[in-house]
Amino acid sequence: MPEGIITVAYLAASILFILSLGGLSKQETARRGNLYGIAGMVIAILATISLIRDGSGFLWLIPVVGIGGAVGWVVAKRVEMTAMPELVAILNSFVGLAAVLVGIASSFEAGQFSGSALVIHEIEIILGVLIGAYTFTGSVIAFGKLRGLIGSKPSMLPLRHQLNLGMLSACGVLGAGIVMAEPASQVTLLTAIALIAGLLGVNMIMAIGGADMPVVVSMLNSYSGWAAAAAGFILANDLLIITGALVGSSGAILSYIMCRGMNRSFVSVIAGGFGVAEGTVVASGKSGVEAQEFSHEEVAAALKNSSSVVIVPGYGMAAAQAQYVVREITETLAKLGTKVRFAIHPVAGRLPGHMNVLLAEASVPYDIVMEMEEINGDFVETNLVLVIGANDIVNPDALSDATSPIYGMPVLEVWKSERVVALKRSMATGYSGVENPLYFRDNTRMLFGDAKESLTKVAAALN
Ligand code: TAP
Repeated sequence: MPEGIITVAYLAASILFILSLGGLSKQETARRGNLYGIAGMVIAILATISLIRDGSGFLWLIPVVGIGGAVGWVVAKRVEMTAMPELVAILNSFVGLAAVLVGIASSFEAGQFSGSALVIHEIEIILGVLIGAYTFTGSVIAFGKLRGLIGSKPSMLPLRHQLNLGMLSACGVLGAGIVMAEPASQVTLLTAIALIAGLLGVNMIMAIGGADMPVVVSMLNSYSGWAAAAAGFILANDLLIITGALVGSSGAILSYIMCRGMNRSFVSVIAGGFGVAEGTVVASGKSGVEAQEFSHEEVAAALKNSSSVVIVPGYGMAAAQAQYVVREITETLAKLGTKVRFAIHPVAGRLPGHMNVLLAEASVPYDIVMEMEEINGDFVETNLVLVIGANDIVNPDALSDATSPIYGMPVLEVWKSERVVALKRSMATGYSGVENPLYFRDNTRMLFGDAKESLTKVAAALN
């Protein structure tokens, strides 16, 4: 294919990727955003394939693209929403490994450069291998923690910060060696950088608790983008540079948004040791008060007697797959003339947009799904709030108890409504492992059980 057409194809693919990111930022346009992304990727792959001049290259590509595409298709079809961070983690590891391989392979061809062009090329290779190897091993560890293959507890070596700094410095020294060394010894030095950066990835991610893995995955996603951009510089491929920069910056922004939603600093996430006690059972409140229960029939009656209802979904709704019965209840209440809305916390569940995706999957209309800022002021005028499998995001201590680990995290102020009904299986804590005084308040009632089973009974009682 003539070079001009390839440039135009790369430009079109880049624009489609940008439109895709724009589309994915809103629920209403997410599907369109995905289609833009698919179209951009098809154009990018075809244009890249057309770069191969030698006939035997095509023969290699057919099985490689075929097998990769088929595996990707099957895995993406099968993956559960709750397992999405795992999938992203393992995909990030592939990008990291690819950057390492591209870097090492390109070092064999460094002879075509000389002078400052050679130095720049070598720096690109060093960065590609360094970031790529770190991303590869870090992502594999993150995948293992999320899958439960590796214990989720932070495992911290003594003097680990000094150790990490030492490894990073060693990579710097080896990098300087590459720039000064004869091309023949570069591969050995690059391999040493890859091994040390790989160990750095293991040591840093092992020290972070499993509960913080979603943020770590988003951060590694950003690194994988920068590794791909470095590979783009090595290969002088503009599209790879643009795509890598898009992934790198959007991953970094997403990590920032997640940290802000949890009121955590990025450094505190990387330092590790948070949220390891998820599932601790709290029998009674701080003042010895017992939580009070409602039966399914009482919840149905309370819903019927309310003119304004807000539903707060959380991780438990995703785990129970209760979104369909939630939609059914919403429809029944709407027919009764009740004003029903959903309140979405920015870090509800375990993924950015987790609840929005589940509600969209169950065809809940977008116009009744509100963001936290839009609805927080309305709880005072709400008769009933149904908290479905949510815990940390409705914890009043986040606003009032300066000693709480989640103090400062913005939360949905559900306790300001007339009545709160919290659906969960037990008195166990959520992700952050902290007690929730909401359950012991006068106006709160608990409905214990799996959210889907409980709501199915409530729906039957409503009808
Ligand atoms: P959590 O605080 O984790 O609470 C979820 C609750 O759901 C648990 O207390 C659990 O109690 C209940 N549950 C689990 N399975 C259930 C089932 N089958 N039926 C009914 N209830 C069930 O979740 P949240 O309120 O959504 O808050 C999210 C947390 O994750 C925040 O702390 C946030 O910072 C963190 N986080 C979020 C993200 C993103 S981007 N969303 C990323 C990283 C971390 P029982 O065991 O008693 O049932």
